[in-house]
Order: sequence, then C-alpha cells, then structure tokens
Amino acid sequence: MTFRIAPSLLSADFARLGEELQQVIAAGADWIHFDVMDNHYVPNLTFGPMICSALKPHAKTAAGLAVPIDVHLMISPVDALAAQFADAGADLISFHPDASSHVHRSIQAIKSKGVKAGLVFNPAEPLSVLDWVIEDLDLVLIMSVNPGFGGQSFIDSALRKIEDVRRRIDACGKDIRLEVDGGIKIDNIRLVAQAGADTFVAGSAIFGKPDYKSVIDAMRSELGD
Ligand code: DX5
Ligand code: ZN
Repeated sequence: MTFRIAPSLLSADFARLGEELQQVIAAGADWIHFDVMDNHYVPNLTFGPMICSALKPHAKTAAGLAVPIDVHLMISPVDALAAQFADAGADLISFHPDASSHVHRSIQAIKSKGVKAGLVFNPAEPLSVLDWVIEDLDLVLIMSVNPGFGGQSFIDSALRKIEDVRRRIDACGKDIRLEVDGGIKIDNIRLVAQAGADTFVAGSAIFGKPDYKSVIDAMRSELGD
C-alpha cells in the first residue's frame, strides 16, 4: 500500500500562499489538496481556477518532480468550473454527486480533459451512486466532517463508510484511490488507514503547527511508512 498525504491549503496562510505551498512540499506533501467553495453548495467561499493556475508552476519538489494538485469541488453546478480547473492545471478533480444533475456526464467531462476524476461523499450521503459509476472513477473521497470549514472533529461513522468503499474498490479490481477528508490528525490516521483509506487530507493538523515536516513524518510513522 502506498499511502499519500495531501495537505489542504484551506488552512494555509493565504497572504503567503506560494510560500506555504513550497514549504509543505519541502516537508513531504505527496499531493496538494485544493478546496473550492462557492458559498452556495457550502456556506463558505475560497478560491477559483486563477489561483490554481498561479500555483501550478510551483507545485513541484526541489528536484523538479511534479506534485499533483487534488481539486475538491464543493460547488454546484459542477461542469463549467471543472473544465476551468482542468485548464488551470488540476491533476485530479472531485465533486459531490448531489451537486451535479448528471453525475456520469460530469465524470466524463473531467476525464475528457485528461484529468483524473473523483466522487466525494458527505457524512450523511449514501454510496449507492457507486453501483453505477465506480469503474469510471480514479478516486473516492469520503468526508469525515461536513464540508465548508477546516478544523472540525472527525465523525466516526466515516470509518464504516470507508470500510464499505474499500470492499467496493476491491470488488471492482480497478486502481482507485480511497481518500478521507476532515479531522485527520496524527492520533487517528492509523485507525482510518485500518478502515481502508490510502490517501489522507489534513489541513489544520499540518498548517496549524509551526513544523510541517514533523507532523507529516509523524503521520507517516503512524502509517508504518
Ligand atoms: C472541508 C475541506 C477540508 C478541510 C479539512 O470542507 O474539504 O479539506 O481543509 O480540514 P481539517 O483537516 O482541518 O479538518
Ligand atoms: Zn477538501
């Protein structure tokens, strides 16, 4: 199992976003999680494709290796902005099925841009749409908080949901990432991995501490990486 840690820029210092990006990559970030909120689907407003494209040239390690930008769309409707994020350099784009009238079409629209596609499930959202589209996905993202804010507490029922998604991914046999988002800390990451997650978003846990590397290293050591 290759685990991935995806720091969420939502908790970074927006006045120094490029610098924060470089620091968290130097600290060992595998992916950069980019939370897009529209003040409509969720009660908050963050950043759009122009910020993504401004950051894109800086999303690489000191050795020049690209670090994927993992765009989490908390917006409705989905398709028009998803296309703009693809053009802005997103490597993965995930959206909430309840935010799109035509989920299959939205997935295809993202993939037609050569970008990996994911579906995101809120804490009370059922997984049944996966019965019909799982083989089209590259990523399933389970929310372990209600979307809209950083710094909330992990909702325990997400563990059961992650176990359910893990069974579905294994049955499907395709290489699909199982990411979890919300309330991930050094002291619960192992439990979440045991439930079947392989990719971990962490915002406040990383950007809330002065030494990003020590948090990421501690998370990896909990994962046995
Ligand atoms: C919440 C966002 C998360 C957020 C997580 O709507 O999707 O990615 O940044 O923040 P923490 O890790 O602080 O719970
Ligand atoms: Zn997110």
